[in-house]
Amino acid sequence: MVRHPDAAMKARLRRYWLAPLPAPPERYRRGPWRPGFFRSGRRSTALTARLGLWLGLAFGICFLTGLLSHVIQHPPGWFWWPSRPVRLYQVTQGLHVITGLASAPLLVAKLWSVYPRLFAWPPARTVAHAAERGAVALLVAASLFQVVSGILNIFQKYGLMPFFFTAAHYWIGWLLIGAMLIHVGTRPRRTEGLSKDRRRLLLGVGAAAGLITLFTAGQTVRPLAPVALLAPRRPGDGPQGLPVNKTAAAAGVLPLIDDPAYRIILAGPGGELSLDLAALNALPQHAAILPIACVEGWSSTATWSGVRLRDLVAMAGADPDRAVAEVESVQAGGRYRTSVVAPEHVRDPLTLIALRLRGEVLHADHGYPARLIAPNRPGVLQTKWVGRITVREET
Ligand code: HEM
Repeated sequence: MVRHPDAAMKARLRRYWLAPLPAPPERYRRGPWRPGFFRSGRRSTALTARLGLWLGLAFGICFLTGLLSHVIQHPPGWFWWPSRPVRLYQVTQGLHVITGLASAPLLVAKLWSVYPRLFAWPPARTVAHAAERGAVALLVAASLFQVVSGILNIFQKYGLMPFFFTAAHYWIGWLLIGAMLIHVGTRPRRTEGLSKDRRRLLLGVGAAAGLITLFTAGQTVRPLAPVALLAPRRPGDGPQGLPVNKTAAAAGVLPLIDDPAYRIILAGPGGELSLDLAALNALPQHAAILPIACVEGWSSTATWSGVRLRDLVAMAGADPDRAVAEVESVQAGGRYRTSVVAPEHVRDPLTLIALRLRGEVLHADHGYPARLIAPNRPGVLQTKWVGRITVREET
């Protein structure tokens, strides 16, 4: 029989790919490498598979909600994000952090259930098996990185992360999901049922995840705030009963915001206006009950009042129903010094340049003299200490 050269090549490749590697030398099989070294009867493929399913679900939720947060902050041309419901981002990012935290005990249990395989002998039976194990190693490293870096971020331990958290967490998120999909495609099928012992162990892990959720969810679910014992923030913490991430002192704006020469420059198709605090206070004032929903998963709702952004846009000579506004802080620099407000948010009457919080003049750390507050946006885009608003009409 004459074989097509392509078929012969494929057969050869397949043989190399699946051929068993040479047998390991006997003298290396010591300690944990000895067969029978790990004797806990609780480990089983069925237990590992169930933990994997829960962990897969948790990581899937984290990936989707994290990706959403990323595109809201760095919107590609095709992306559209509504201003209603006003609490949508609060829910998705709250879910991200709560699910991520609840995944920690699942990850620990999953690693416990499989770590003897680190010492499996031979380390790889075939080239294909070596590739599969490589993907698992990547999956373990990426999972640990995501959970640990996420926790360091919400506790603001930036000093322990010698890299830019957001970029690293974003790209490792993709790596994790990729490795997870390869793993799901190549893992062994579950064969056995669960013994009583293992069911009890699973129940314990589920209870640990539940308790972590209960003790942290209060950072965004107000009725649970009194038991938010593990949460880095609570909704009522901070000046005027609202948490603060960046203070006026840290942003270096203190002399500028107290300067009597403070103005908001409003620039648009109609020219440039300079508005001092008296002028801003003389404009029609409106109130909006809106949350500050931080990327770190905490959130807190309050009544804000001030001038509608759409009114300012009209004053700048643009159509408030199809205008984009760039809002700039008086800060000299910083990643979140400016933010772009898309037409959906500009036209929404709840989007304010706020001058007051809970009826009081804004605290310096909440953005005095004026800050942006818009529905359904991450806190990092709610620019504080506004110094300039540039308006242009969408073409
Ligand atoms: C304890 C677990 C976790 C915590 C506490 C956590 C926390 C966070 C925080 C605070 C952010 C916002 C960063 C920012 O915009 O500045 C974020 C974003 C993100 N997270 Fe997580 N996370 C966790 C687990 C995960 C996991 C398991 C995945 C993926 C499978 C993931 C994927 C992402 C992605 C893709 C982003 C968007 C990053 C960006 O804005 O560019 N996270 N996470």
